[in-house]
Amino acid sequence: MDMSDPKKPMARHLGPLDEEELITSGIRHSPKDFGFQWTYGLRRFTGCLGQVPASLALQLFSLALFTVLLVAILVQVSEAPGSQGLENSKQEEIYQELTHLKAGVARLCRPCPWDWTFFQGNCYFFSKTQRNWHDSITACQEVGAQLVVIKTAEEQNFLQLLTSNRLTWMGLSDLKHEGTWHWLDGSPLLLSFMKYWNKGEPNSSGEEDCAEFRSEGWNDSKCDWRKFWICKNTSTPCSSD
Ligand code: BGC
Ligand code: CA
Repeated sequence: MDMSDPKKPMARHLGPLDEEELITSGIRHSPKDFGFQWTYGLRRFTGCLGQVPASLALQLFSLALFTVLLVAILVQVSEAPGSQGLENSKQEEIYQELTHLKAGVARLCRPCPWDWTFFQGNCYFFSKTQRNWHDSITACQEVGAQLVVIKTAEEQNFLQLLTSNRLTWMGLSDLKHEGTWHWLDGSPLLLSFMKYWNKGEPNSSGEEDCAEFRSEGWNDSKCDWRKFWICKNTSTPCSSD
């Protein structure tokens, strides 16, 4: 028994043919009706999915579109230079810069301070003023060096040449024991170095206990007299490593 109101138009679901007719009949529909046509087209497009509600189909379509977009973005990102790649190139740039800087520093490196002379791993300072022997020791200590102690024949020849006949103190004396010569580092004067005394020296003429460069060789002289002096220090290594 039909319990519906007979005056009310009977609600009837549209069949596929009815809907086709509505679309092809040329009847103009309101914007509200457009939604109806669009969902109908979508349902036809999805074929057997025509029975699936339009909202679900729309969601599926959106999901598929979103997935395609996401995959495309992921492919782009994976092909682009990654952050690790950027990090590596930055590190390489810094490394190159450091190599250049090190080469620059190596070129600037000097084995001896300004106004000192380098010879066989050591630096020598030839004074321009004159002091007594003890004050000459102090002058060298004040610059972190020592009144020259001669270790080799080559060093002796080099220093003798550079004193250019100027009376110049060296770190050698017999102050502790007359006639026994010792260097400031405590080492005794070797026999092989005795040949550097000038002829007739050391003669301790009137108490002479300190050694000097004089003419072609060495002379013992009065420690209180003022003469030039030479300081010696080890040189600064200038390696590039
Ligand atoms: C020096 C002496 C030296 C002598 C040599 C003098 O002028 O003071 O130390 O032994 O000359 O002739
Ligand atoms: Ca003498």
